Amino acid sequence: MSVSQTKYKVPESFAKNALVDETSYNDMYRQSIEDNEAFWAEHGKRVSWSKPYSRVKNTSWDKDDLHVKWYEDGELNVAYNCIDRHLKDKANEVAIIWEGDDPKDCRHITYAELHAQVCRFANVLKSLDVKKGDRVTLYLPMIPEAAFAMLACARIGAVHSIVFAGFSPEALAGRINDCDSRLVITADEGLRGGKTIPLKSSVDQALKHASDVKNVLVVRHTSNDVEMVPNRDVWLDQAQEHVALECEVEPMNAEDPLFILYTSGSTGKPKGVLHTTGGYLVWASMTHEYVFDYKQGDIYWCSADVGWVTGHSYIVYGPLANAATTLMFEGVPTYPDASRFWQVIDKHNVNIFYTAPTAIRALMGQGEAFVKQTSRKSLRLLGSVGEPINPEAWEWYHRVVGERRCPIVDTWWQTETGGIMITPLAGATDLKPGSATLPFFGIKPEIVDAEGKVLEGPAEGNLVIAESWPGQMRTVYGDHQRFIDTYFSTYKGKYFTGDGCRRDEDGYYWITGRVDDVINVSGHRMGTAEVESALVAHAEVSEAAVVGYPHDIKGQGIYAYVSLNASVDPSSELATELIKWVRTEIGPIAAPDKIQFAPGLPKTRSGKIMRRILRKIAEDDFSNLGDTSTLADPAVVDNLIANRQNKK
Ligand code: WT7
Repeated sequence: MSVSQTKYKVPESFAKNALVDETSYNDMYRQSIEDNEAFWAEHGKRVSWSKPYSRVKNTSWDKDDLHVKWYEDGELNVAYNCIDRHLKDKANEVAIIWEGDDPKDCRHITYAELHAQVCRFANVLKSLDVKKGDRVTLYLPMIPEAAFAMLACARIGAVHSIVFAGFSPEALAGRINDCDSRLVITADEGLRGGKTIPLKSSVDQALKHASDVKNVLVVRHTSNDVEMVPNRDVWLDQAQEHVALECEVEPMNAEDPLFILYTSGSTGKPKGVLHTTGGYLVWASMTHEYVFDYKQGDIYWCSADVGWVTGHSYIVYGPLANAATTLMFEGVPTYPDASRFWQVIDKHNVNIFYTAPTAIRALMGQGEAFVKQTSRKSLRLLGSVGEPINPEAWEWYHRVVGERRCPIVDTWWQTETGGIMITPLAGATDLKPGSATLPFFGIKPEIVDAEGKVLEGPAEGNLVIAESWPGQMRTVYGDHQRFIDTYFSTYKGKYFTGDGCRRDEDGYYWITGRVDDVINVSGHRMGTAEVESALVAHAEVSEAAVVGYPHDIKGQGIYAYVSLNASVDPSSELATELIKWVRTEIGPIAAPDKIQFAPGLPKTRSGKIMRRILRKIAEDDFSNLGDTSTLADPAVVDNLIANRQNKK
């Protein structure tokens, strides 16, 4: 990434009205580190507890005695915090603005209506025998019912596991089975960019491999015909006619699970990241308020999908816990045309807009006219998340979209962290395009070298976090050892993020990207191992190695080296078939952008694939392949170079 030297000062008008200015950031940050427990004792009160906590923090990252507990004797309910407690003053304020794929479709849901919807939904879950602690899988489009379903689970203490609706039936089945869900909630169809997505029929296919599922609850959305299996499938609208309108909230312990969300790692199948109730809600709501400088009355829009953690924390839980108005968008940025985001902003007077660099780059490619035909005068603050934002995209977002008026918060975090970790606060932090800048309250980032030595001052190395925070994940569902091995075994007593990072002379952090075998495609995480195992599952493939390479829009593209069985000849038809195959095995986001047939892969004598070499060749940069003398057969490299797919 090219390093921009520009620094943008906090606009004075912004600092004056912001929740936090530079002085208060420094004071609060210092307190949060020097007296961490007292800081969180105080800020834990931002949520409502049915039984107050007396113990704030009980955490150890020692891998032989690993435990993470926050507010452990407190009790609360997330749905109560996101809905009921606002009813006294804000019953008629809008909680959710829903903007459909079709610009003609839109709904405004007040807190009173949200309460009614979630209560009835929760009673339907109870009628289907869902109990506290049971896992429920959600496979839903971006419709208000997705939020209702999440909050209905939270209300009765069920644990939701949302599977992004772009994942294939196979991937869905794996996630249903891993957490043993007995209920799947879906819709007849989704709608994106004017096209229907056959969600119910994907669930039907998935359930051929997930036989423990007892019921499928179906939201009527497009109202097109779908098959309903008797005694298993239930329409939500019909089920709701027979249930009570009120549903008590279930008191939950702070450390009871709230949700599971699967994410890719460098090895093996996706991990079920588990978040719990109290600490997560404190973290999601506090970061939402401070990072977005949210004030009552603001209209806030995060363009993510609820299938990713960004949607969990910053469409649903953070904003609703803060009694905010949160906009939920079903469609895509380019439908009906590339002006859609900005039209939606004008239509609903959005003040705060949070999106991903990949969307910005794609829209930047469509030209400024699509932006300039809209006003965007309501915008006050912009945000970015999901991958490093290249300074060119940052500048465009700032100059064209925000008309140099709106600060940009580039927020670094992960599914595992529950919420934002490193970020500017718009009233406090001068901005440098491409830098996530400084840690949020209570976060102690460190940069370490390969041996684990903590580097001081300006430095580059691996990013670790040295101290627990309330929103961190608690375990990998069903595999606590994997949690310990993945995050706490590389560097003793520290949480390893998997990211590389540089700290500059001002103490600003610059995330340089993953240092493990994870690729970031359009802000979404893909494990290379997962794509490889999908490829080798094809009858004609004997071996595969997958790496990332720089991609103009997606950030990283997926490059697959494939060795075929002896009797099979490479062909462009087979390459196309393999791409299709991965789409059906995992989903469109995992589909390789490039396939290179390789008679052999570069391996050490002990059989380990040297990915460093494969990455270089995929980047079309093979002048310096490093030491290849340890390869079992150095000649394979010449063949790989000769047949590279990214020749400039
Ligand atoms: C990985 C986490 C956080 C929600 C969406 C992605 C990369 C995320 C940034 C940023 C540079 C970023 C990291 C991280 N990442 N935000 N602002 N600057 N890199 O969540 O799927 O868990 O992926 O996304 O590499 O480790 P995720």
